[in-house]
Amino acid sequence: MTRKILVTSALPYANGSIHLGHLVEYIQTDIWVRFQKMRGNTCHYVCADDTHGTPIMLRAEKEGITPEQLIDRVWQEHFDDFAAFHVQFDNYGSTNSNETKESAQGIYRTLKANGLIEVRSIEQYYDPVKNMFLPDRFIKGECPKCHAKDQYGDNCEVCGAAYAPTDLINPFSAVSGAKPELRNSDHYFFKLSADTCQAFLRQWTRGGALQAEAANKMQEWLGAEGENKLTDWDISRDAPYFGFEIPDAPGKYFYVWLDAPVGYMGSFRQLCAKNGLSFDDYWKQGSDTELYHFIGKDILYFHALFWPAMLQHAGFRTPTKLFAHGFLTVNGEKMSKSRGTFITARSYVDHIKNTEYLRYYYAAKLNGTMEDIDLNLEDFVAKVNSDLIGKYINIASRCAGFLGKFFDGKLAFADSKSLLDNAKASGLAVAASFESRDYARALRDIMALADGINGVIAAAAPWTLAKDETKRTELQEVSSYALHGFYVLSILLGPVLPALTSRVARELFGMDRDFAWSDLAELPTHINAYQHLATRLDPKLIEAMVAANQESLKPMTDSHSETRHAEHQQHAIAPLAETIGIDDFMKIDLRVAHIVNAEHVEGAEKLLKLTLDIGEAQPRTVFAGIKSAYDPEKLKGRMTVMVANLAPRKMKFGLSEGMVLAASGETPGLFVLSPDAGAQPGMRIK
Ligand code: 2FM
Ligand code: ZN
Repeated sequence: MTRKILVTSALPYANGSIHLGHLVEYIQTDIWVRFQKMRGNTCHYVCADDTHGTPIMLRAEKEGITPEQLIDRVWQEHFDDFAAFHVQFDNYGSTNSNETKESAQGIYRTLKANGLIEVRSIEQYYDPVKNMFLPDRFIKGECPKCHAKDQYGDNCEVCGAAYAPTDLINPFSAVSGAKPELRNSDHYFFKLSADTCQAFLRQWTRGGALQAEAANKMQEWLGAEGENKLTDWDISRDAPYFGFEIPDAPGKYFYVWLDAPVGYMGSFRQLCAKNGLSFDDYWKQGSDTELYHFIGKDILYFHALFWPAMLQHAGFRTPTKLFAHGFLTVNGEKMSKSRGTFITARSYVDHIKNTEYLRYYYAAKLNGTMEDIDLNLEDFVAKVNSDLIGKYINIASRCAGFLGKFFDGKLAFADSKSLLDNAKASGLAVAASFESRDYARALRDIMALADGINGVIAAAAPWTLAKDETKRTELQEVSSYALHGFYVLSILLGPVLPALTSRVARELFGMDRDFAWSDLAELPTHINAYQHLATRLDPKLIEAMVAANQESLKPMTDSHSETRHAEHQQHAIAPLAETIGIDDFMKIDLRVAHIVNAEHVEGAEKLLKLTLDIGEAQPRTVFAGIKSAYDPEKLKGRMTVMVANLAPRKMKFGLSEGMVLAASGETPGLFVLSPDAGAQPGMRIK
């Protein structure tokens, strides 16, 4: 039976350009959707621009246009960028649509009827010149802790302290420069603290919809049974605000994060109108269709708590699964404008053109976990050239010509059955990897298959056979074997390289459609003349792209990250510990450690057993509580930082001789530290 699946990616804000960081998610989702479609499942992929909120309103004002004009322009840019990367939505909408408005208002009305909306007066900074309440990010002043000037209202970028905007010294409005006043206003809250919400979320977050690491984070946010840690969620903002008015509440608007996920529904409603699909089939409580949201780990809170609670209490189905992914680093570091690694989708297209190279590289890194992925630009070139060109394309470019020249393009097989059996087995293994979003494993298997095919070609040396007229049968057989291999590889790579493999299907194999997974069960009978398919990636193009991004460096903040900050006020950093002197610090002996081995510990839920070399005669054993975030295989060989003079501790599983350092915060994730390249085991950190 074919599955009925609805898939979404997070809605990008309508005030910034799509960059390579965004594309990790859209490419990841698109690969999964294309895979489902190739398998014959019914799968719909919808998305939209996220258009509301204060930053968008103010940006439009700054540009001297209406918010509607701004979001229309950005919509077109986003749409074109996604198309360039072959991200193929079935509908790409906007949250500023009638469909989203009606859904948001409908959900609100039901929540209200169910007693889950409450009005409360809150005190907030108000800009008396602009006549508006100010989000925390639009209030600046002196940090109450370190006295750094010009810091945001939620935390200090100099000392890292978190505070309320009312703690700032000499606060001023970042919009007008005016001194803000404290004023009261009625706000609308979704009663997340209600027993019904907490009980539901406790059960839902344990019900298999979340990756293990995300489920753990949720348990932290929810607290222990009976602890009821969730607080009510403020879903209203006062005029002026670019958004939807709350029914029966003049001058009050839905906070952008209330209608953003409703945009998934709004966009799907548009698809239903276009294609005659039933909205209820996919969204009604009790529906047997599947619903998946691909998201970044930073917006898990909204998708794993607010969104399912809203859906459940408004009579809709909840997501089947949330697929959260990590962030992108470039050359091991956060994308940076000064290093030229803050690369927009447009800039990539302008310089590199071939967007499937990036799809391939991302796929080779994505494994379905919440770990960050790194785009190492040198490795990117190496991988594209060695795998895609050197292993895959080469098979066809070396062997297709013989079939054309000597056999009129006809293929002939020595052992059809074993070829079909092997294709079937590869198809099963690779499909399982795509299904579980472990694209890295899928590509490893595909490239291993390519290695095998290249090995057979090298051993048979068709270029030598071609010189000997008595060897025509052997020549046709090995060339047919190679082209069948290329056919299989092209099907398996279909979700990752849709444009290239579409050309392979149509131009080379003469099909009148793109590949389907079921084509693995067929043997191609002939090929058309081979036409050039892809060129090696020239490292000079990358250099030029990075240089161009450095040149265009402007003293401008990234509007996307600014928006994110503005909308994420609830996740402040933990308060700082008490001040200590240098002597206190020097008591801790921190060393660079080489992770010689890392393994699971039988029976331990959270621990990994690490073997660490810090230059001593014997390596040390350390049990680290990082199992939720790391695959031991990925830790082996890495350098990290350990506390070397911590008293050894006897644990259930053995003696732990120190501690490795890892960062964690309010948002999910656990991050083991690494020194820069060049650090040697045993070096002291001070
Ligand atoms: O964080 C963001 O970029 C948001 N615009 C994502 C919204 S996702 C969904 F809820 F709409
Ligand atoms: Zn400070």
